Amino acid sequence: MSTGSRKSGSGRSGPGRPGTTKTRTTRFSGRGLHNRVKTAKGRKSSSKLWLERQLNDPYVAEAKARGYRSRAAFKLLELDAMFGLLKKGGRVVDLGAAPGGWTQVAVDVVGAGKEAPGKAKESGQVVAVDIQGMDAVAGATVMLLDFMDPEAPDRIKDALTGPADVVLSDMAAPATGHRQTDHLRIMGLCEAAFYFACEVLSPGGAFVAKVLKGGTENELLAQMKRRFAVVKHAKPPASRADSAESYVVATGFRPDPNA
Ligand SMILES: C[S@@+](CC[C@H](N)C(=O)[O-])C[C@H]1O[C@@H](n2cnc3c(N)ncnc32)[C@H](O)[C@@H]1O
Repeated sequence: MSTGSRKSGSGRSGPGRPGTTKTRTTRFSGRGLHNRVKTAKGRKSSSKLWLERQLNDPYVAEAKARGYRSRAAFKLLELDAMFGLLKKGGRVVDLGAAPGGWTQVAVDVVGAGKEAPGKAKESGQVVAVDIQGMDAVAGATVMLLDFMDPEAPDRIKDALTGPADVVLSDMAAPATGHRQTDHLRIMGLCEAAFYFACEVLSPGGAFVAKVLKGGTENELLAQMKRRFAVVKHAKPPASRADSAESYVVATGFRPDPNA
């Protein structure tokens, strides 16, 4: 599998600016601003390292500056810059949405809940789903749901006002630290999201899901290739280099697998 690279202007140096795709990829550097954390009495060195990493992470600082709830927002901005996933007026399902960074980006780009008089067709829809509660995002429909619950797909379909243009899954079960178990869990979520995407996507639609190192399993990948014109793996610059995560990005949905 190749790694997607279209318009991948954001480097490891940090997040781009909001607004158009072009400006979203602008780089900025946080060099010279390194913070050190003194180990407080009783604080474990792992939490010290975590805090130091947060304080020195330009994505964390920029997410805060822009009002994003998570640095993960930049992963979607970067994937969108690479693959052109989100369109004004589009309908998006965001699985594993909490705390809401991807939802904020999707609402902003598709214009969800921003129906201008006489321009109803340009107003998009974002349905955000998570097993954990999350604060409302203006313009989005937020659903507190375990996506693996057998009733979840129908409940999400009921919330959709029509076929989806994009199904996003950033779902991740809490890591156990056992590599095999974590891989199986995330692949289970990815597979369920893929089958759901095949039920709700409109022709030409896109599917994005988080996977772990090693990418998507062969059988699932083969199924994706039957249903989508292009299937790639991508690791956006905002995804930490030491994280095993990457994303499978499938575009050009074919409702008829033989088409
Ligand atoms: C990495 S976080 C998502 C971050 C989010 N994309 C953002 O931008 O803020 C992964 C999320 O997947 C959710 N999740 C895991 N299993 C799930 C399930 N079965 N159903 C719904 N959400 C699930 C977790 O609760 C967690 O909030």
